[in-house]
Amino acid sequence: MSSNGEPPTSQAFTPFWIAGPGSPSAPVVGNPVANPVPSSDLGTLGPAGVASTVQPTMSQDITTMANAVPHDDFTNGLPEAQPPPPQPQQPGPPDPQPLVEAPQSEPTLEAPQVQPTPTEVSVDGNPPACSSGAPTKFFHTNVEDEEENIMDKKKKCKVQRRRLSPSHREMIIDLVFNEKKTSREVARYMGLPQSTVMSVVQVFKKEHRIHKKTATGRKRRLTTAQEFHLFEMSQERDNISVDEIRTRFLQSFPEFGHISKTTIYRTLERGKKGLIGMDPPPERYLEPIERYWGPKKRGKARTGTGPESTNHSLLEPNVSIMEETGPIETTSDKDISRQRRSLSIAEREMIISLFFNENRTIREVADFMHLAKSTVSSVVQVFKKEHRIQRKTSTGRKKKLSDDHEQMIMDILSQKEDITIEETRNRFLSLNPEVPNISKSTIYRIMENCQSKLRARSDMEVFVGTFVHSTEESPMVILTDMVMGVLNTKIEFMESLEELDHLKAEYGFTDSNIHYMTPSQFMMPGMIDTHIHASQFPNNGVAMDLPLLEWLQTYTFPTEANFSDTLFAREVYSKVVERLLRNGTTTAAYFGTIHLEGSKILADVVHDKGQRALIGKVNMMRNCPEYYRELSVQESIRDTEEFIRYIRSIQSPLVQPIVTPRFAPTCPEDQLASLGQLANKYGCHIQSHLCETQPECNWVKELFPWAKSYTDVYDSMRLLSEKSVMAHCIWLADEEIYTLRERGVGIAHCPNSNISIRSGLCDIRRLLNHGLKVGLGTDCSGGYSSSVLDALRQALQVSNVLALERDQDYQRLTFKEAFRMATLGGAKVLNMEDRIGNFEIDKEFDALLIDVSAPGSAVDIFSKDTIEDKIQKFLYTGDDRNIARVYVAGHRILDLHNKNLH
Ligand code: GUN
Ligand code: FE
Repeated sequence: MSSNGEPPTSQAFTPFWIAGPGSPSAPVVGNPVANPVPSSDLGTLGPAGVASTVQPTMSQDITTMANAVPHDDFTNGLPEAQPPPPQPQQPGPPDPQPLVEAPQSEPTLEAPQVQPTPTEVSVDGNPPACSSGAPTKFFHTNVEDEEENIMDKKKKCKVQRRRLSPSHREMIIDLVFNEKKTSREVARYMGLPQSTVMSVVQVFKKEHRIHKKTATGRKRRLTTAQEFHLFEMSQERDNISVDEIRTRFLQSFPEFGHISKTTIYRTLERGKKGLIGMDPPPERYLEPIERYWGPKKRGKARTGTGPESTNHSLLEPNVSIMEETGPIETTSDKDISRQRRSLSIAEREMIISLFFNENRTIREVADFMHLAKSTVSSVVQVFKKEHRIQRKTSTGRKKKLSDDHEQMIMDILSQKEDITIEETRNRFLSLNPEVPNISKSTIYRIMENCQSKLRARSDMEVFVGTFVHSTEESPMVILTDMVMGVLNTKIEFMESLEELDHLKAEYGFTDSNIHYMTPSQFMMPGMIDTHIHASQFPNNGVAMDLPLLEWLQTYTFPTEANFSDTLFAREVYSKVVERLLRNGTTTAAYFGTIHLEGSKILADVVHDKGQRALIGKVNMMRNCPEYYRELSVQESIRDTEEFIRYIRSIQSPLVQPIVTPRFAPTCPEDQLASLGQLANKYGCHIQSHLCETQPECNWVKELFPWAKSYTDVYDSMRLLSEKSVMAHCIWLADEEIYTLRERGVGIAHCPNSNISIRSGLCDIRRLLNHGLKVGLGTDCSGGYSSSVLDALRQALQVSNVLALERDQDYQRLTFKEAFRMATLGGAKVLNMEDRIGNFEIDKEFDALLIDVSAPGSAVDIFSKDTIEDKIQKFLYTGDDRNIARVYVAGHRILDLHNKNLH
């Protein structure tokens, strides 16, 4: 790029990486823009184009391109010569049978999960009794209290736990879970300290993920009876304290050991909502159930005691579910089938709900509903088959086991070094009587993975200090003296520091698991870039002298064209992802280029570096240079479909595809319609640009004369949904805002780009007032910075400038609101707010450890600064030097003190 910002002159195009650093044509900053393609290659729109000539010249470009694009409706050239389509070409109704079979793992994303191992473990962690042969008579039923101080013995306990033989450990587990003995009884019986027994039990619970999810996504560790007891206590008096509830609870259930305030609060919340003992299925589960059995009878109490019933009588039977286990019926296949068929819809629905949402075992459901176990199992199997709950493995073979069953086999394998396959199989089948059989090859396969998976298990990480995040109600909540626990990928608890000892006892972590933040540190959610062109990173900080349409033709398309070179793609994409992570961007919605291979590389790089992202292969086939365009709708859709399938084959929980029509002017109707269809077929996110500049908006009117508005173009092509992200949206009419709101579309506000290429100042207050979801985007390289912190500041500046133009009561954005847009707002825009965006319990732990006094920091802190001052100073004057650690899904992927984490 010419450093004076002048448009480049026409010269032979030699990419700088070919020219080499010593070459005379090698630009100073290594930017391909410095060597633009000959202007003839740019179509008729040259860098000298001025705003008033943009449309005619661009229209001529359509003529130039027409012959190369047989699918283009605009083959006649100038807009006025086009046959105006009376109606947009509406895509047909969603294809019930995908043209190409979608990967089977997809439908299960939204489907109820087959609940965790061991299947026979009930909600409180106790499996129903099974004959373990443990000698019950040896138990002291009336043991006096042991005087052991469990806390003091914690350290010893870990050592002791390690010294126990596998058979001892197995015996402890058997006695506690199968024989339902208390840890005290087991300790007595086996001559071990109670703390050792408890520790083995805790580890077992953790490993078997016994803390299961309830339907509301929260973890539940209590039996229904215990929950009910807690709730009843809370109803006794208005002013009863949680501490009192806890004390009395532990008196009633001394074997429970410890209970945290979070658990009590959660239970009381559930009680207030009338959910104790009857978790209703979450919304997303209703749909498959409806498809299977027809519409639910909403708003009407069910016959009997279905899980959605408001009838508390379910509490009683549920308690008995937990405590009794009847004999296993043996029923002939014919009988099962008959029984299954004679079940009412409501009964089947209830079975599914109890099994999938309440996490009851087959046996529990059968007992509760007075049905044969085999009947229940058969209903569950049919449901699983219908919903393809059996997922494909990465090798494409059907996976016969749920993840939890697989985990259970791994645990069995790891308990005894010389265990045989046969022994493993028998043990697994005895723990899971509802599983008919399991092949040796399946066990071998799991065994192969066992070692690496075992290593991948992470213990709890605990943070103590200050946390700042946003909620629906408040743009900034500052929590001081808190303790947060992260287990695997998710936030397990967030409590007052006073609870630390209880939490240690409950979860079994020690000081070595804890990071104590210093007074200059705090933790905030990872930032979310809702709109960034990874492929424009080479142009970051250059080439901003032209307005959008000329800028695209002159700088952007030539740069993006270089990504046909996969080596270059890897070079750039590695740098941009690293830069973003350093800047604290834990999630990004990326634009790649039109190139399939290059875009796959972007997905690989993101996956390797552990970032969370939506990745788009760009679609465009007109009004762009011949050397940089897709050649037909077929090619465009074929490549995009392959791209989607490729990303899904990675099976990363963090990386997903996003369908990416560049913007309406570069995509003819049939392409837009096909992309809409493709996105719907795969349930993908969608991203594009909308109403960025006025010349662009006018141009869209000419290109799509039938459309009510620019927004209507996308809407007519089924490109607008709650999974759609539209960048800029500066020039929206009110009707367009209503449409976007109705469809649940998210807005990527890119304030740096607003100013840098002078597209206009987006009035975010207006969009927020209309209830739109708004996040921040860097729009690199339309914006010159790849940092969301920069976007946050620029958003405030844009708002300030708008306030100068408007009347006095114009509500400027506050820094707290900008902070929310950078985190929770972004999560909402990407339709990921159920997983990320803030520090709610059970969300994925995507977070930044900020240190305002980090070495070399540009933030100046003084003794009188409050914590809010420190946070605000970081937001306004901080940078990557202050981002000490970056976590994505619980993994520390960047640490300033340990530079080799990648
Ligand atoms: N509109 C279409 N393509 C682009 C792009 O690459 N950047 C921006 N800012 N706007 C666009
Ligand atoms: Fe953009």
